[in-house]
This record gives sequence, C-alpha cells and structure tokens, in this order.
Amino acid sequence: MISRDIIDEIVYRNDIEQVIGSYVTLKRAGSNMNGLCPFHNEKTPSFTVFPATKSFYCFGCGAGGDVISFIMREENLDYVDALEFLAARAGITIPHDNEPPDEHGIPRKRVYEMNLAAARFFRECLSDEKYGKEAMSYLTEKRQLSMATIRHFGLGCSPDSGWALTNHMKRLGFSDEELSAGFLCGIGKNSGKPYDYFRNRVIFPIIDTTGNVVAFGGRVLDDSKPKYLNTSDTPAFKKSKHLFALNFARRCCSERMILCEGYMDVIALHAAGFENAVATLGTAITSEQARIFAKYTKQVVICYDSDNAGQTAAQKAIRLLGEVGVDVRVLKLEGAKDPDEYIKKFGADAFRRALEGGISGFDFKLGSIISQYNLALAEDVIKASGAVCSMIAAMPSQVERDIGIRKASEILRVSPEAMQNDVEHARRRMRSAEKKRESEEAQRSIRSFGDRVNTDAAKNIRASRAEETLLGLMLIYDEFRAEAASGAVGLSADDFVTSLGRRIFEALCELERSERGFSKAMLGEYFNIDELGRIEKIEQERRALARNDKEVFLASIDSLKKESGKSEGNSSDPFADLRRMQALHKQAKEKKNV
Ligand code: GTP
Ligand code: MN
Repeated sequence: MISRDIIDEIVYRNDIEQVIGSYVTLKRAGSNMNGLCPFHNEKTPSFTVFPATKSFYCFGCGAGGDVISFIMREENLDYVDALEFLAARAGITIPHDNEPPDEHGIPRKRVYEMNLAAARFFRECLSDEKYGKEAMSYLTEKRQLSMATIRHFGLGCSPDSGWALTNHMKRLGFSDEELSAGFLCGIGKNSGKPYDYFRNRVIFPIIDTTGNVVAFGGRVLDDSKPKYLNTSDTPAFKKSKHLFALNFARRCCSERMILCEGYMDVIALHAAGFENAVATLGTAITSEQARIFAKYTKQVVICYDSDNAGQTAAQKAIRLLGEVGVDVRVLKLEGAKDPDEYIKKFGADAFRRALEGGISGFDFKLGSIISQYNLALAEDVIKASGAVCSMIAAMPSQVERDIGIRKASEILRVSPEAMQNDVEHARRRMRSAEKKRESEEAQRSIRSFGDRVNTDAAKNIRASRAEETLLGLMLIYDEFRAEAASGAVGLSADDFVTSLGRRIFEALCELERSERGFSKAMLGEYFNIDELGRIEKIEQERRALARNDKEVFLASIDSLKKESGKSEGNSSDPFADLRRMQALHKQAKEKKNV
C-alpha cells in the first residue's frame, strides 16, 4: 500500500483548484468556485469547489470528495491509480512492491503492457512477408494508405491462425486469464483453451491521450461479417469514454474537431492533413464523449456517412453536443458515401471547402423536418410549423431562438409573431414538464428505494439524519472525532442503524486511532466514488449549517421552518434534507448572480 506520507504529499502538491480547473471552467463565487459539472449534463452550474476544505460537491448529481475522488471519477481510475495519476502530475515517485489487483483480478497497468505487446506483434505481422502480405496489399493498394500513415497509426494485422497471438503472448508470460480479461483471447467452450480473438484482420490500435494502447479494432479484408471486431470493455477500457485518434487530434483541436463514423475515415482525413478528426469506437456518440469534445474544442463538425443511418446518427450527435455547449455543424457530403471516399474522389482541397461551408446544426435539423412535409398543403405547413417550434423551443439561447424563428418563418411563410407565440407556449410546457421530472427524481432519490448509496436510510429516517449530523461533525471537528473514537461519549458502531453510516463511523474511528491519525485522503481506501460523494455531502451540509455564514444559515432556517410548519404533526419529514439542500443550492446560485 502507498504510504501515508506520500498520500499526504500528493494531496498537498495537487492544489484542488488547479487540478479541477484544468478540467472545468471555474468562476469565483464568494469564497468558493462554481462551474458546470463534468459528471452530468447541465446548463446552470451546480458544481462547487470549496478551496477551504480542499473538496468539491455537485448539488445536481451528488458527486463529491477531495482531489483524489475527483480524479477517480474524471479519469475513471480506482483509488490507487488516481493516486498514481496525481503523483505523476506533481512529479512524485511512488515506491511500490506489490500492486493491488482490480475487480477482474488484473491491474490496469498489466492490461496496458499486454496491449502494447500485442500491438507490436500485430505490427510485425503486417510487415512479415508471409503473414502480412494480404493485409499489407489491402491497406496500401485497396485503401491507398502510405507507409508513413500505416506507421503513424501503428496499424497491424492478425494472422489467419487460431493461436499465433495467444502463443506469442504466453511466451511473453501472460496468462490465459489475463489474455481473456484483456479481450485478446476467447476461451474455447469445450476445450477450455484460449484462442485468438482477432483472426485474419487489419488491426487498428486505439490509444488514449496518455499514450496507452487501450483497445483494438479489427477489420476483415473482404466482405465477410462481422466487418469489425472491437475490444469489449476491459479493466483498462470503456468504449463510451474514448475517441479514436484523440491521441493525435488533441494537439490541434482547440478551435474545431471533426467527428466521423469510421476508423478508415479518420485515417484518411489525418493523411490528408485534417488531424483534428476523431471517431467513436463503433457505437453512437455518448454523453461522456460529448463532454470530451467540450473539454477540447469549441466547434464540432459532424461528418457522418451520407446514408440514412449516418444522418439519423447525426441528429443524436447534434443533440448531445449541443447540450454540452459546443457549436455543432454538419457536413453533408455530396457524391460520396463517407469522408474517406470523398477525399479519394475529390481531394483534400474540396473537403476543406466543404468544411468551411458546413451547415449549422439548426439548418440541418430544420431541413430534415421540412423535408418530411409538402409545404403546398396548408395542413402540412401547420404540422411542420408545430414540429419546428418544438425544436426551436428546446434551444437554450434566446438569440439563437430569435434567429431560428426568423429563418423558419420565411421558409414556411408564416408570421414570425405567430411562431414566437408557439415557441413560448412550447417552452412553458417544457419547463413545467422539466420541473415535474426534477422534483420526481429528487423525491425518488431521497426515498428509501431511490437512495442507492445509503440503501437502508429509510428504515429509520430520523435515525439516519442523526447519523449524518454526527458523522458530519466528526468529519469537521477533530475533537468530536477523538471523543467518539476513544469511546468517551459512549457511542459505538452498534448504535448505527444504516450500514453505510456504520461503515463511515468505523472508518473514521479506525483512522483516528491509527498512528498517524485521521486524513480525509485515506477514505478512498474504504469507499467507492458514490459513497465518497455522499460523505462529502454529509460534511458540506453540516459545514454550511455550522459555519457563521449568516445568509446560508438564515435561508436554511427559513426554508426549514416553512416546511416543518406545513407538515405539522408529521415529525419525520422525509424531504427535510432535500429541501435544505435546495435552499443552499438556490443561495449559491443567487450569490453567483450578484
Ligand atoms: P470501411 O468500410 O473499411 O471504409 O470502414 P469504416 O471505418 O468506414 O466503417 P463503417 O463506416 O462501415 O462503420 C463505421 C464504424 O462502425 C467502424 O469504424 C467500426 O468502428 C464500426 N463498425 C462497423 N461495422 C461493424 C461491425 O460489424 N461490428 C462492430 N462492432 N462495429 C462495426
Ligand atoms: Mn468507410
């Protein structure tokens, strides 16, 4: 295990404002910092960094903790890997002997080593006279790739054998379990023996932004099915969180990125000089990937295949990218099925010109709505206008809505005032639906069955609230923690009703009694990220109440009084916590707007 000294040093040398600030744009709000939460989609900031306590909390989704928990969540790392990540960032070397295994029993680092060895093997196969001949001619002749491009992307091939890679990897010391956990091998159902997962395919290594080979895609050399095989999620890899070629694109993408569908499209674009092109890994774009784009760039040009599937996928991408606030454009390629074919047919200059003329996400959506109707018919105009108004109503910016209404009303030949009215109407409907949904969600999360973090909180709501108060005070005040841990106040783990409360209590006491005493940075050893978020919430709620911050204090009392007045005779108000959080949240927002 990493020593306590080093953990303290890692936290000390990684200033939470700086670390989080490199992922999230933070604005000062009083003594704290606010920003848009990187862990869920939102338009108004509920993500707060508290420099004084070196912690963060999102009032929207409940993510929270210290700088270590932040990295665990943001970089999808476990506790130890997050410590390594931060150590590397601060230039601290961690001495270690034995690595703890992850949930699959194989450390992430081992998977990287394995993938790197496999990538080398695939690459060597490609330049092999015998094994790589067919694949090489496929790449250089049929797909017209230069040797420089093939080397740049580290392309390879898997031989047409069931065991070539498996045997090679086993000679290097990788076990059957490791190879199958890393998706390089399957295990025969009857024989129980490992066999190569990729056979007779061109191999595209997928490399993350820190240079690790995280996965592979493999394409057949002919028309057989399935066309591609991709690594499934492994300890080192979640396909919904990666983009192909982001390792290159990240260097030149601050203004604009190009999103395409296929590996071959990305490779053709890079070879033609468009090194800001990336692709998702064989799946539709996810909100996690949308947030990656928001992190790296201002504008995304979607350049999907010109078939129906591609155009439908573009709609989804427009929505997800719009939600994270990037400027979205769509490039509809005429005369070619995808960017790869377009460049081969018309050349890089033609593509560059098309890129500049890319239409806005709005025009694209408007066009595809209108194309479904016959505008010569009055009733179709009414239907089209209804659909367009709903689409415009969903746009967050007033200015963009105004421009949209003007454009659409010209095309549909209806009065902009009428459309304006319909848009307002649709917005009111949307807002009340949204409010309803939010409050339902919040109530679910506070009720027993909705509280996934502390599942038995509802067994006894009053007790679980008392637990939270106690634990909050123990987290904040050394003296309360010391008293509780020494048994001086007669409190024991058996007094706790919820198992999470009990575990937090035990962890706090154990750390308190340890030689070096309590440190929040050690909690990652005991709890998962959702639990760490809950612990942060317990502490912040307590702090907000205990701190002499009069505004927050008075507002909390105010809302509490209102609520308890309403529910007189009902002494256990299950929503009191929620209401208090909402009041605090509202306070924080109002502060920000001053
Ligand atoms: P080419 O046909 O060689 O030009 O490949 P492409 O990269 O342009 O592929 P295509 O447009 O057909 O598909 C886009 C992406 O979807 C590919 O890059 C793959 O990531 C994924 N994909 C395509 N076919 C399959 C398949 O059969 N299985 C899986 N898992 N993914 C696929
Ligand atoms: Mn293609």
